[in-house]
Amino acid sequence: MNTPKPTILVIFGAGGDLTHRKLIPALFNLSLDGRLPEHFSVIGLDHKPFDESSFRSHLQNGVNEFSRRGKVSEETWDKFSQNVSFTSLDFTTPQSYYDLANTMRSQSQAWDVEADQIFYLAVAPTLIELIVTALNEAKLLSNPEKSRVVVEKPFGRDLASACQLNRTLTRVMNESQIFRIDHYLGKETVQNILAIRFANSLFEPIWNRRYIDNVQITVAERVGIEHRRHYYDSAGALRDMMENHLFQLLGLIAMEAPVSFDQDEIRNKKVDVLNAIRLIDKDHVGDFAIRGQYGPENSGASMISGYRAEPNVNSDSNTETYAALKLHIDNWRWQDVPFYLRTGKRLADRIAEISLQFRPVPHRAFPDSATKVWAPNHLQIRVQKNEGISLHFQAKKPGTAFTLQPAAMKFSYGESFTQETPEAYETLLIDVMNNDATSFVRADLETVAWSVVSPILEVWQNEEPNDFPNYTAGSWGPKAADAMVERDGRAWLLDAESTKEGDDA
Ligand code: BG6
Repeated sequence: MNTPKPTILVIFGAGGDLTHRKLIPALFNLSLDGRLPEHFSVIGLDHKPFDESSFRSHLQNGVNEFSRRGKVSEETWDKFSQNVSFTSLDFTTPQSYYDLANTMRSQSQAWDVEADQIFYLAVAPTLIELIVTALNEAKLLSNPEKSRVVVEKPFGRDLASACQLNRTLTRVMNESQIFRIDHYLGKETVQNILAIRFANSLFEPIWNRRYIDNVQITVAERVGIEHRRHYYDSAGALRDMMENHLFQLLGLIAMEAPVSFDQDEIRNKKVDVLNAIRLIDKDHVGDFAIRGQYGPENSGASMISGYRAEPNVNSDSNTETYAALKLHIDNWRWQDVPFYLRTGKRLADRIAEISLQFRPVPHRAFPDSATKVWAPNHLQIRVQKNEGISLHFQAKKPGTAFTLQPAAMKFSYGESFTQETPEAYETLLIDVMNNDATSFVRADLETVAWSVVSPILEVWQNEEPNDFPNYTAGSWGPKAADAMVERDGRAWLLDAESTKEGDDA
């Protein structure tokens, strides 16, 4: 394992939720695992009025609450937090960036090395241009080998704004310095897709249109919009999840075999997939894209409000909290194989799963009496909750009569591996420190993803939905999404393992 070079990590917007819930718990765990370099420091910047000690105790609370290792001992926290400082800063004042440059220079001098500099932009998208321009003027981006910028999602809100943001960033730095983060790419089970596909000879020969009937990607959430109403109400499920997380999963599932593990080789192959997605004609969006919004659920003991009744959401909001797409990939491998993707808030369970359903046998030689229960072969990759893989097939049910019954071969991470799984942000932060952009989104991937959702966004924006709310909180989404798949003679598949009770963190 590579230990990164000496690093100064500057977090813009360090007073926000991301730092508290994800970044500092991830860095803290990396330090416990001995993955951070000997010379490492974090400079938190925000306009919020923290002082050094209140900032540290705010972060300590975050670690106690959100770290996968649970509550931290005072001693280990004190050791780690010595390397964390806070500066209250007005992002609009150019002098602040010169001061920052001086602080960073002094730190490097104290270590007697030229440290790598990472600027993590955990800020509202409207501040990005201002910050990168000022960083550039203060000469903080001038060494492409040493300076990197991490940009959080949302990366724009449509094709035009994403292209504009790319232009803004590449005006002041090289593409190789830009790390657009999509935390799904840091998830262990998502990274494992490359291993399953390309480290085994078993799957690749049947991973194509000859054997696969359809592919399904489900990312379902049980939670609603939590504390992010302002952002979510102007985003919706298509922008918040589909354009990024689900498309990244699609890229990994559908890509051609890479020639090497080179960061650009893998990203080239993913771009090829997204470039091959057939664009949905605006006149036929309704046949290929379904939107939904949850209404209240008040059966039994629980009572969940509908989206429109969430605090600070307009009572006539048309924001979709659910989106399902049917896509086609126009290339030799996938021609005519539909890819069904769905994601939503307040669904029946928290599940992220990819399902590859294989074609039926060409001829059923068994008598009808033997084949009363028949399920097509399918491979289920459980990305989230009860993480693992199941391969479903037909077997003879034990007994004197010849009767077939579906059975499954199951792999479970929990049973096969004893190591603790790192959080996605741990993996991704180490990658940025090691200057490895394999699991980050390159500009072309970002823009092609926006081009795919563009016609849908446009139609949904111009045509008001007339059936919202159209699914009950706690259900599996709108009926129209089931109908879209059923029209093709298929159904949404979920692995029984996924719906079992499990670690629902
Ligand atoms: C974020 C979305 O990117 O991913 C959230 O903005 C969503 O709305 C979250 O809840 C889901 O991430 P995970 O890792 O919990 O599946």
